Amino acid sequence: MIDQTALAALRQDYLQHELSKKSVAANPFDQFSRWFDEAVSAQIVEPNAMHLGTATREGLPSGRTVLLKGYDKTAFKFYTNYGSAKARDLAVNPSCYLHFFWKELERQIFIRGTAAKTTDQESDEYFATRPYKSQIGAWASEQSSTIESRKQLEDHFEELTAKYPEGNVPRPPFWGGFRVVPGQFEFWQGRRSRLHDRIYYEKENGGWKISRLSP
Ligand SMILES: Cc1cc2nc3c(=O)[nH]c(=O)nc-3n(C[C@H](O)[C@H](O)[C@H](O)COP(=O)(O)O)c2cc1C
Repeated sequence: MIDQTALAALRQDYLQHELSKKSVAANPFDQFSRWFDEAVSAQIVEPNAMHLGTATREGLPSGRTVLLKGYDKTAFKFYTNYGSAKARDLAVNPSCYLHFFWKELERQIFIRGTAAKTTDQESDEYFATRPYKSQIGAWASEQSSTIESRKQLEDHFEELTAKYPEGNVPRPPFWGGFRVVPGQFEFWQGRRSRLHDRIYYEKENGGWKISRLSP
């Protein structure tokens, strides 16, 4: 086990970039695009991996990583099992957040929004692009439920492989996408001596109000 003093001493000074109200885009989706493109150029592994935070109606929180599979100037999309714990949370409490941490660029992005299911057509189109085994995997997993063993899951996968030949896998009715429509964004750039830059966007009168937050 790591020595606790050594653990407490783990820290990094952030020196790479700066962010200001003047330098950011007027629209946070454009700012997201700039940073996302830079994350791709920096060859970050899975730059589209984001943390999704949800809560039950009573406010009991949960979090997990999902992959961003598309965005436009209104929403961010991901795909999942509609019977999963996250989907059950979103069905009763559509408020959620998305969080990206790109440590290689000393950046994080926080997005708070409201989730709704994508159209069947959007889900069908995306499902059709998935590799065959991922398509079967979507059928095989009753996501977030308790299972007896790994073997049970793998046997079920094999049965489904026989049932649905490659090139002919329909989208499971219990699997599809969510679109998260943001109300707030925060772009965080690590800076020297913990004096980080935090630029906050909030929807206001149909536009976006931009402010700087104290680190
Ligand atoms: C890098 C990474 C990407 C993931 N992408 C997805 C995804 O796009 N959709 C998904 O349902 N689960 C994804 N998962 C698995 C989830 O983190 C989670 O375990 C699963 O969705 C069940 O979550 P829930 O029980 O909270 O609903 C991913 C996990 C990792 C580590």
